[in-house]
Amino acid sequence: MHKARKDIEEVLPQMDVMIEVLDARLPFSSENPLVREIQGDKPCIKLLNKADMADPEKTAQWVAHFEAQQNVRAIPVSQEDPEAIRDLLLLCNNLIPHRNLTDVGARVIIMGIPNVGKSTIINTLAERKIAKTGNEAGVTITQQRIKLPHGVSLTDTPGFLWPKLNPPTCGYRLAASGGIKDTVFEWEDVGLFTADYLLKTYPERLMARYQFTELPLDDEALIEAVGRKRGALRKGGVVEMNQAAKALVVDFRNLELGRITLETPDMISGELEAAKSAEASKVKEKAERDADRRKRYLKNKR
Ligand code: G4P
Repeated sequence: MHKARKDIEEVLPQMDVMIEVLDARLPFSSENPLVREIQGDKPCIKLLNKADMADPEKTAQWVAHFEAQQNVRAIPVSQEDPEAIRDLLLLCNNLIPHRNLTDVGARVIIMGIPNVGKSTIINTLAERKIAKTGNEAGVTITQQRIKLPHGVSLTDTPGFLWPKLNPPTCGYRLAASGGIKDTVFEWEDVGLFTADYLLKTYPERLMARYQFTELPLDDEALIEAVGRKRGALRKGGVVEMNQAAKALVVDFRNLELGRITLETPDMISGELEAAKSAEASKVKEKAERDADRRKRYLKNKR
């Protein structure tokens, strides 16, 4: 990750425009904090990809949120509308001031966490299949430059995942969406997180999908009810929670619950605020513990 960052920082001065591919279902959690750190005053286009899977109302909120940031354009896209993706090339050229003075198209760098749909977008832009840039840990990190229509040159970067640990909910959302390998988390944990959110935000979709007569009271009750409906049972009729949780998450991923977005700008600012005050309390507690220890030490010394 460190090497990838260094590589990107090295080529960045020669770039005119940055494109960051986000997952429209979790635009904050799928963001790479590095992009904001290195953006400077370069124009950045945030592509809210997989918009076909996201809740259109919440996508509009995210577009407004990003567009309020300096030098940022936000555009929902999906593989269902390749023409809209190709229009990006003209937008990139229009964003660079020296475009009118020379005939050279924009030099663009594209970034995005794995599985966000970056390769699909590159193939659409290039109108041919381009080899994937190495993603996996241990695979040599490479960048590749691709010539695109309208004189645009595109530098692809490895889709390294910069874990967003703050707020901690980001990891659950990435896992629920399939942005993190399924082997690195417990289905039950991600299922409970997803269940809690769906109960609060999309209860009517749950009622329709699982034909409940009554909405389950909490996350655990929802997973249990899904398990019963799906026959995810152990001997004695006990629900196999891991299997039931997986069924719920897979239903979300496969659009069985309709188009769902896992976070909104308001939710994220609340979570960031809560994480900040939790951090401040931790620092305060530590300072109090240290002062106590010092007091005891001085007392014993006397
Ligand atoms: P990456 O380079 O960022 O790692 O992602 P990639 O393009 O390989 O896309 C990851 C998965 O997301 C692929 O599905 C791809 O088809 C899907 N995808 C990409 N863009 C969109 C979109 O706009 N909408 C939807 N619904 N899906 C999209 P896969 O199941 O991993 O592979 P495959 O079945 O397409 O072979």
